[in-house]
Amino acid sequence: KKTAPMPSDILARKGGTPLVCLTAYTTPFAQLTDPHCDIILVGDSVGMVHHGLPSTIGVTMDMMVMHGQAVARGLKQAMMVVDMPFGSYEESPEQALRNAARIMRETGAGAVKLEGGVTMAPTIEFLTNRSIPVMAHIGLTPQAINTLGGYKVQGRGEDRERIMADAEAVAKAGAFSVVLEKVPASLADEITAAIPIPTIGIGASAGCDGQILVIDDMLGLFTAFKPKFAKRYATLGDDADKAIADYADEVRSRAFPAAEHVFGDKAPEPKK
Ligand code: KIV
Ligand code: NA
Repeated sequence: KKTAPMPSDILARKGGTPLVCLTAYTTPFAQLTDPHCDIILVGDSVGMVHHGLPSTIGVTMDMMVMHGQAVARGLKQAMMVVDMPFGSYEESPEQALRNAARIMRETGAGAVKLEGGVTMAPTIEFLTNRSIPVMAHIGLTPQAINTLGGYKVQGRGEDRERIMADAEAVAKAGAFSVVLEKVPASLADEITAAIPIPTIGIGASAGCDGQILVIDDMLGLFTAFKPKFAKRYATLGDDADKAIADYADEVRSRAFPAAEHVFGDKAPEPKK
């Protein structure tokens, strides 16, 4: 059995073969993604994808811990990172440490992820100095939807220097990698060249040190909306719709259950 990469192994992948990352929220999808990925993120996107929430704001610590535990049961070789939910780390480094420690203790995660650049750098430093590896997340940070005013591209024009400063701050604070979400490709490339930690792109650039997508987006399971960057590699939502419609037809026509799905009066002869 290959052991899961440690944050130091991820750091060493800077500039090498791109890191393959996906989200997972349940044991079966952890089992499906594990053989192919370096990092599995239990993202707070679970709130929108599996709990019907309108944004990630309503996601709780209990939800992240429960999904983290489910994913951990399905992983054999990938590193698991768990998102810190909105409100669980912003108040103080101490609050962040308390909640990050709970996530690691109760899920076995090797690291946590939190959103924010310059503002969160002191918290990232506090955690990493106290044995909690941190993946940072800058650019479009979905927990900031209410202050960003929508899921817009970040770092265009005047804003470019702000995102570059965020990248430099989280790297200096000790993050072992950073997610760059929805920033211009040229900025993602510039950040990737400028900082010593792996950049993991989502709506960023093929030049990043790794890529991540939401599993339900890339499988075509989440179809409420489709971000431009969310390439669909399958249409499992359509397959599921067809299967469920077929079942409904067969129940109404009594084609299901058929002889092979029902039981006779006598037990079958025991096999010799
Ligand atoms: O919650 C999530 O799925 C994420 C990734 C898209 C980076 O934060
Ligand atoms: Na997230």
